[in-house]
Amino acid sequence: MTGHSQQEYDDDFVCVLEAVWGEGYLSPGGADEVEQIIGEADLYNQSILDIGCGTGGVTQFLMKRYQPHGIIGVDVEKSLIEKCRARAAENGLGRELVYQHVQPGPLPFPGGSFDIVFTKDSFVHIEDKQSISDEVFRVLKPGGRFLASDWMCTEGPLSREMQHYIELEDLGFGMGHQREYAEAMEKSGFDGIRFKDRNEWYRPIAREETRRLSGELYDQLVSRVGKELVDHEIRTWEALVVVLERGELRPTHWRASKP
Ligand SMILES: C[S@@+](CC[C@H](N)C(=O)[O-])C[C@H]1O[C@@H](n2cnc3c(N)ncnc32)[C@H](O)[C@@H]1O
Repeated sequence: MTGHSQQEYDDDFVCVLEAVWGEGYLSPGGADEVEQIIGEADLYNQSILDIGCGTGGVTQFLMKRYQPHGIIGVDVEKSLIEKCRARAAENGLGRELVYQHVQPGPLPFPGGSFDIVFTKDSFVHIEDKQSISDEVFRVLKPGGRFLASDWMCTEGPLSREMQHYIELEDLGFGMGHQREYAEAMEKSGFDGIRFKDRNEWYRPIAREETRRLSGELYDQLVSRVGKELVDHEIRTWEALVVVLERGELRPTHWRASKP
């Protein structure tokens, strides 16, 4: 399985992302978007794995909102895992939430460990969709659910605009399209695979995020992380809006079950 082990989400980058998306969130939409991904699934007393837990906002929200049996958050970046642990402790969730630093590759859990595997906007960093899908299938219990979201692209060659956006983002993106995900999950053995496109939802929000970055957030972010990074992020967000509006970038939710 491919993936990235070097630090891509350093402190300054995390500072910018959390200023835009909220403390604990390295992806858009906050708690509302997490609720959308969970939908009608009943998480009460369930064991949950969150793959690519970032700075832990999702895990904290899931624990408070749904009272699962337990949640393990894993991430390939040690500094993010440390942030997750510190914030969970600050919020009195240090016992309930377990965070584990992992290497890219096979998940370090025995087969059939979890009722629910959750992931939000992290598989974009993992090029080999088949291996990660097989791993999710393996660690789920029979009857377990896979509840997820990721940034996908349309099929076919990437446009110049998309290549430009990916270059600016510089996060080792391994973006896949919906059919690639569907085929990988079917091959792994998943049932009931359903997708929900979020392009239309995210377009106006991304425009507003770009406006806030160059507006009310600008001065305070420049004083915290420097003008060069903030200006770079504004250019990245502008390029993001272009590929969203072209319909080429398709944030998408999906769900599937292990028979
Ligand atoms: C866009 S952030 C999303 C973080 C979090 N899910 C959220 O929504 O706030 C992507 C996360 O995936 C992590 N990541 C990248 N490759 C990974 C891998 N192979 N296994 C687990 N996590 C990975 C990154 O370190 C980062 O924290």
